[in-house]
Amino acid sequence: MTEPIRILMCAPDHYDVDYVINPWMEGNIHKSSQERAVEQWGGLHQILKQHATVELVPPQKGWPDMVFTANAGLVLGDKAVVSRFYHPERQGEEPYFKAWFEENGFQVFELPKDLPFEGAGDALLDREGRWLWAGYGFRSELDAHPYLAKWLDIEVLSLQLVDDRFYHLDTCFCPLQGGYLMYYPPAFDFYSNRIIEMRVPEEKRIVVEEPDAVNFACNTVNVGNIVVMNKASNSLKAKLEAAGFTVLETPLTEFLKAGGAAKCLTLRTTEPIDPQVSANDSVVSQTVTMRGHLLDTGLIDRALDLIQEGGGSFQVLRFDLGKQRQSISTAEIRVSAAFQGILEEIVAQLIDLGAEARPQDEKDATLTPVEMAGVSPDDFYVTTIYPTEIRVHGDWVRVQGQRMDGAIAVSETSDGVVARCKLLRDLELGEKVVTGISGIRTVRKPESRETRSSEFSFMSSGVSSERRVELVVDQVAWELRQIRDRGGKTVVTAGPVVIHTGGAEHLSWLIRNGYIQGLLGGNAIAVHDIEQSMLGTSLGVDMKRGVAVRGGHRHHLNAINLIRRHGSIANAVEAGIITSGVMYECVKNGVPFVLAGSIRDDGPLPDTMMDLIEAQTAYSKLLEGADSILMLSTMLHSIGVGNMTPSGVKMVCVDINPAVVTKLSDRGSVESTGVVTDVGLFLSLLVKQLDRLTTPYPTPVATR
Ligand code: ARG
Repeated sequence: MTEPIRILMCAPDHYDVDYVINPWMEGNIHKSSQERAVEQWGGLHQILKQHATVELVPPQKGWPDMVFTANAGLVLGDKAVVSRFYHPERQGEEPYFKAWFEENGFQVFELPKDLPFEGAGDALLDREGRWLWAGYGFRSELDAHPYLAKWLDIEVLSLQLVDDRFYHLDTCFCPLQGGYLMYYPPAFDFYSNRIIEMRVPEEKRIVVEEPDAVNFACNTVNVGNIVVMNKASNSLKAKLEAAGFTVLETPLTEFLKAGGAAKCLTLRTTEPIDPQVSANDSVVSQTVTMRGHLLDTGLIDRALDLIQEGGGSFQVLRFDLGKQRQSISTAEIRVSAAFQGILEEIVAQLIDLGAEARPQDEKDATLTPVEMAGVSPDDFYVTTIYPTEIRVHGDWVRVQGQRMDGAIAVSETSDGVVARCKLLRDLELGEKVVTGISGIRTVRKPESRETRSSEFSFMSSGVSSERRVELVVDQVAWELRQIRDRGGKTVVTAGPVVIHTGGAEHLSWLIRNGYIQGLLGGNAIAVHDIEQSMLGTSLGVDMKRGVAVRGGHRHHLNAINLIRRHGSIANAVEAGIITSGVMYECVKNGVPFVLAGSIRDDGPLPDTMMDLIEAQTAYSKLLEGADSILMLSTMLHSIGVGNMTPSGVKMVCVDINPAVVTKLSDRGSVESTGVVTDVGLFLSLLVKQLDRLTTPYPTPVATR
């Protein structure tokens, strides 16, 4: 015995576009014709009456979207979960729909307040009753899904919507009789598309193209083998007919202006249930705490965006706002995701922002043994530049050798637990690596409002004006002097542009005067520096007159050849072959340098390391303990250096190309400053300022 199909509708007496809560409504305020809306709604009503029993809920003045009864709630058997609308504009509909469900004998379930769920607009039953497809991302929260599973005793498959034109699941997804599914794949994220493909065999998937999707073809009412929709292209009609469906088109253009069509205007109140099914959902959650200047530094914004973009959903459980400028705020955020894997990816990124587990859920880190040297176990935690701690046997241990893009290797010795950042290639057999996300925290220095905003105003200008460059130079000069005077360490990474732009004499001055404790570069900076010091040209261009000299194209090769004859740069300096320049000063002042080779190198110089693994190791060794790094017009070496450097080391990146500066300064850390300017000019200003700082003030004459 089959029960008659029942459908709930609501007449458009008060329908209009009164506000904008989806992209379709934009520009359409009061643009719909009441007369045409009544006529179109009547057309749909007429068709459906021939195939089902249509019931009506009385329309209410002031609630223009009530015509969209799909959003009344979700019905299964004699149970109804009444909607909690996301937008206040529609929340007033809730009591009317609830009353209708109660009057019609449904057992009504209500979600917690502040947990949005928009009914059958975002939850669609498989037409065989095997499971419930539930959408989230715009109007409904993922955290509502476990309630649906439990109350309706059904398996829930969560799908993330990613295109705001398709903000409700029923705008882009339509399960059809016989296990068919008509849908628009680009409206869903990658994982959701995989779930759909796993559940619905290819021959049952009717993929809709964008032109049909924007005509709301997926917003279809399916009764038996009839599909009723606003409009379909010939090709879509052909596909549906081939699958055994009869397509009935009925214009609903007035409702498209509010972002709805056929299916939204209906709520099916008799749904098939497969008695075999039982409650199930894959939604997982975890609660984290964040502390700091959450609002004024934008940290909370970044965290919430990251959750959303990562495919998760959140609820802020608690937010204690620090009342004063210097006081710290604390937030407790519950993160949910459709799967464990997605949740872990999101939480790992939150850890990088400084999020921690609540004290009551703190766990030890998961340690997984390395099974093949140089290869990490899967799912390892990827390190950042921030100081990191891991929990082992209940104690927090600081990770040593902090750097980006490594794994955390843990060994237990008689002196206790040692945790180290290691490159994948350096992992040893039997060593343990931190995997997953438990027991890891990064220690973020609380960013203050001041540092953050000065950094923003500096970076946001794109190209720094001359006055700005001077200001940064003053700042850098001050810091370089402080570091030198307290016996600290400044490392320079420099490209050949430093030489071409006439910066060699200034960089030489910095080295000679004790401001630089290490130099990193490639083959080219050394070659051109030596060429200039020996022959007065840089890549064959006369540095004094700025013109190419005859035969100059071979100058750099002559320079390379000469050094090769002597065996090393140092030998050439000792032999009196090189008498000035950057490399000369390094040798004379005992400043160590590392030159890392590349595929395009001429020569190379005997000092250039052509084994890149060796060069990387030498770079990171020289960088150990650095207080500041000057990155002068070399993208590749600077990025390499940036990856090896923990937060807390002041980095100044100078390049004429704003893109390079942004890339390097954008480490999400307040310690980096970018300067878009000519590097030769920058160095000359820096030297001038340092020189001035060293000139003693005239002794003040006592007045009185
Ligand atoms: N203007 C309504 C809203 O934005 C349209 C609802 C359409 N309903 C649907 N199930 N797609 O909420």
